[in-house]
Amino acid sequence: MSTVSTEIQGDIAVVTVNNPPVNALSHSVRAGLSDAMKILSANDAVKAVVIACEGRTFIAGADIREFGKPMQEPHLPDVVNEIEAMEKPVVAAIHGTALGGGLEVALSCHYRVALTSAKIGLPEVKLGILPGAGGTQRLPRIAGPANALDAIISGRHVSAKEAKSWGVLDELVEDDLLAAAIACAKEATSKGPRRTGEIEIDGSAFGDEFFAGFRKSIARQTRGYFAPERCVQCVEAAVKLPLAEGLKRERELFYECAQNPQSRALQHMFFAERQVSRIPGIDKDTPRRAIKKVGIIGAGTMGGGIAMNFANVGIPVTLLEVQQEALDRGLGVVRKNYERSAAKGKLTAEQVEGLMSQFTGTLSYDDLSDCDLIIEAVFETMEIKKKVFTELDRVAKDGAILASNTSYLDVNEIAACTKRPEDVLGLHFFSPANVMRLLEIVRADKTAPDVLATCVDLAKAIRKVGVVAGVCHGFIGNRMLSPYGREASLAVIEGAKPEEVDAALFNFGMPMGPMTMSDMAGVDIGYLNRQGMGRENYETKAYDWVDRLVEQGRKGLKVGKGIYTYAEGDRTPQPDPAVMAIVEEESAKLGIERKSIPAEDIVERCMMALINEGAKILGEGKAYRASDIDVVYVNGYGYPPYRGGPMHYADSIGLEKVYAKICAFAETFGPRWWQPAPLLKELAEAGKSFADYDRENAG
Ligand code: 3HC
Ligand code: NAI
Repeated sequence: MSTVSTEIQGDIAVVTVNNPPVNALSHSVRAGLSDAMKILSANDAVKAVVIACEGRTFIAGADIREFGKPMQEPHLPDVVNEIEAMEKPVVAAIHGTALGGGLEVALSCHYRVALTSAKIGLPEVKLGILPGAGGTQRLPRIAGPANALDAIISGRHVSAKEAKSWGVLDELVEDDLLAAAIACAKEATSKGPRRTGEIEIDGSAFGDEFFAGFRKSIARQTRGYFAPERCVQCVEAAVKLPLAEGLKRERELFYECAQNPQSRALQHMFFAERQVSRIPGIDKDTPRRAIKKVGIIGAGTMGGGIAMNFANVGIPVTLLEVQQEALDRGLGVVRKNYERSAAKGKLTAEQVEGLMSQFTGTLSYDDLSDCDLIIEAVFETMEIKKKVFTELDRVAKDGAILASNTSYLDVNEIAACTKRPEDVLGLHFFSPANVMRLLEIVRADKTAPDVLATCVDLAKAIRKVGVVAGVCHGFIGNRMLSPYGREASLAVIEGAKPEEVDAALFNFGMPMGPMTMSDMAGVDIGYLNRQGMGRENYETKAYDWVDRLVEQGRKGLKVGKGIYTYAEGDRTPQPDPAVMAIVEEESAKLGIERKSIPAEDIVERCMMALINEGAKILGEGKAYRASDIDVVYVNGYGYPPYRGGPMHYADSIGLEKVYAKICAFAETFGPRWWQPAPLLKELAEAGKSFADYDRENAG
């Protein structure tokens, strides 16, 4: 079936794109549009043209699946130029999302009519590229350079209302889009074409100073990214150069971005995030359970934030605590969070009250008897968790899903204390739970398929990216964090300063270094964990210096001193000579001759530790795919998306090299912590990548 068809209604031709699911500009669509323009140009009976789309959306962009493959003619920039050059007026009829190449097609049309619910955007930057079919030249002409920079650098979806105020959309309608577009086309027959590319930009307010200021304003948000600077250069070209030269510059910079490894990494993330909800053994026919009411146990750091996710999408929540005071405190924090959003203008006072009315507080388990899903977020102790689940087993209705937010504990053991282990699983949120996008969905041995399927859907409903993990200590993310932290801490005892370790990993692209992260989380948390583990079960060399800090009351940011010192009311970590004195003493005690460690070595050891643990998790079947691990690390731990997550990063280095490096570390530092993952060895020896593993194993 053809993806582009033409129907002539009187003297108006309606060209319709039908390329499910999102009408991407695959080769057949580009060719179809180009052919239609040629045919309609030559048809004297046709006075104007409408370009519309079938299905859920207007064209949502170039076909990302074609990226990296040899591009077949006609190329999109040529098709877009061909549309703009039409002598007959062309009208775009926009519903859903006109994104990327889709918006570029719309901008090359002479008039644009849209549904009020439509959105437009140039999200290319999120894929590591830039709008490569004239978007960087035409959007500044029609919307002004400032709005264009905002849209191109953020990649955000702009509402139809805002787009109209920018001049991008001519007319908004509530319904019957096609009729409105045809009416616009009829009217345009007397006005003739109106080409975006011919608009002159008044560049007087957009000199070098403007662009320097803009670059400064985005420096933090775009740190480490390759494409944003090229996007700015394109808009500069739009201001300074005639269209044809600007388009040429756009093309050059587009290729620079497309050839940069960041674009492959970001495109990998795009598909990885869409892949996570594909679970072997589960499909659309797997039954789902209805989740209309949720119970949360524990209103501490996590419970309140978890509850907010449900209230935000209109699902009422009952919050249970042991004491009224704790309940009041928990609900107070929730209210404060909403009020903070209101102060920023994101919510109205009525909306805050509406959201708060979704919450019911209780001290009685019996009030949870009508909940469809109950999530436990109490202290991280097996004994307490078991007590809670025993109570839940008593009060929860048949078919209710029982979940634990545990960070490390064995979900099988928790499930086993109920008479309904098939209804139990882990739902591991990340802190702050109302903000962080990641949700680890921990599938226990007996979790029923419909329970898992329901929670995978639920993750999407509460706007999280839900990744399924198997039961193991720390699941995917926290399990990998442990060897990463170990290597960072070892670097300090061997000779690096904490701030050097942090700087090395920050410069790699992490949002903060591991030492700052420890201080933020509380250095005492790891300390207490180690006390429970016994010295034979962890690398004491790495942590004795940290434990001495805790024993001196240096518990981290919350008390103003930890690995760093903090001035009153200031979260900036300040290196402290007292900490270095302890570190040096501990190094001497261990007979370590301290020496400086190059930043690349610190990064390499931390990354290899992450990758090796990731490969073990994958080999043990605790993650379905390597790309799921990447999604966890990017969304839960701030791993730089432009490196595509640790497993994609490993692929970009080459697994043979990674394996050789880990074997070399085993030689140098001893095999105890550097045993290469069997799967890594297998893939490296077969000359394969983690991506190959995913293709062959996860479908
Ligand atoms: N190319 C190929 N496939 C695409 C695609 C694209 N541009 N956009 C979406 N898809 C696929 C998805 O992979 C998914 O496939 P699957 O069902 O097999 O997993 C399917 O379409 C549905 O996508 P979503 O699950 O994301 O559906 P939503 O309804 O949640 O979202 C959307 C729809 C808002 C259009 C979202 O898919 C999206 O943001 N897509 C990307 C848009 C984009 O980045 N466009 C720019 C492309 S680059 C470009 O145009 C370059 C040009 O300047 C030269
Ligand atoms: P928290 O100490 O801030 O809150 C726990 C709350 O549970 C307290 O308010 C306490 O009064 C309440 N509580 C204790 N026993 C209870 C019981 N029997 N019945 C009802 N309420 C009870 O702890 P936090 O940080 O919220 O952690 C909760 C769980 O979430 C733990 O399992 C933790 O490992 C996990 N988690 C924590 C993260 C974090 O960053 N804090 C991140 C992800 C998971």
